[in-house]
Amino acid sequence: MTTNEIILAVETSCDETSVAIVRGGRDILTNLVSSQIETHEMFGGVVPEIASRKHVETITVIMEQAVQAAGIPLADLSAIAVTQGPGLVGSLLVGIVAAKTLAMALDLPLIGTHHIAGHIYANALVHEITYPAVALVVSGGHTELVTLEREGAFRIIGRTRDDAVGEAYDKVARALHFPYPGGPHIDRLALDADDEIELPRAWLEPDSFDFSFSGLKSAVLAAINQSKMRGEPPMRAALARGFQASVINVLTEKALRAVRECGAKQLLLCGGVAANRGLRAALAARCEAEGVPLLVPPLSLCTDNAAMIAAAAHLKWKRGEFTPLDMKAEPMLSLEDWSVKD
Ligand code: KG4
Ligand code: ZN
Repeated sequence: MTTNEIILAVETSCDETSVAIVRGGRDILTNLVSSQIETHEMFGGVVPEIASRKHVETITVIMEQAVQAAGIPLADLSAIAVTQGPGLVGSLLVGIVAAKTLAMALDLPLIGTHHIAGHIYANALVHEITYPAVALVVSGGHTELVTLEREGAFRIIGRTRDDAVGEAYDKVARALHFPYPGGPHIDRLALDADDEIELPRAWLEPDSFDFSFSGLKSAVLAAINQSKMRGEPPMRAALARGFQASVINVLTEKALRAVRECGAKQLLLCGGVAANRGLRAALAARCEAEGVPLLVPPLSLCTDNAAMIAAAAHLKWKRGEFTPLDMKAEPMLSLEDWSVKD
């Protein structure tokens, strides 16, 4: 079913304040993202209290800018969507209050949206998804393998038991004295490296789709410490390459096994770490060899943004599944529970 509704979506779950206006779940009229990275950089990670305060400063300004940039009157909006969770509760609340206020003032339906459903459906903004599909979600807070038997029906078959992959990237980058967020720095260093230090792979039980990255992260930290004790500089490039090789190896193998076991027609890559050039190249090569179409959003839709929230909210809009105005922020919102009802 194609629809032509116009959704204004708000995303404030972590350290990006974003407002987007999307028509028919596909046509991005505007997608403004204000990043707080510079603010959090000096702390080496996101400080929740500061994040909330920054969202408060930015949200109304960016909302006005988005409406202006889309060039449509407010009366043309069909619904207001907002990230309900998961995320930092104080950050979520700022977006939720703004979205509720707008929904109430314009007498429009509200759609509380799942952040990871947003990352997955970022693909729908640029690709045609065919089902069943498998999604590999790799972000700063999440590492999950999700099956989609049909549109909007999510089942998590694997998740990290400790660090999320982006979190591991950021911690390793910090130990190698790169600023937050460290993922892109490690990616660059790894691709330019001449040597590689072999590091462990956490395969876990043979039939498990779960992940674990804390052992790998500790192996990097131990290697850095050993260099220090010998009075030598750490072999940064070789470590970055070894770390990235381990991450890519495990993610690629598990994702392709999930595709085979679920009989998926496509593999969807999404989340901030989907920006990783090494991962994209390795997955593309493996998928091509196995004849599996790989969908990846453009870089601007991989990291947190509100257009992806509008794309996921579109699933609910089509089915008339709206959220009551007394909706609360849900820092631990379950993806499976957020699935569409039919
Ligand atoms: O999805 P996202 O924007 O925020 C969350 O919802 O977590 O992901 C941010 C994460 C950070 O950990 C960042 O280091 C990582 O994505 N990241 C990368 C790359 N670009 C961003 N990690 C590895 N390689 C990259 N090129
Ligand atoms: Zn995210």
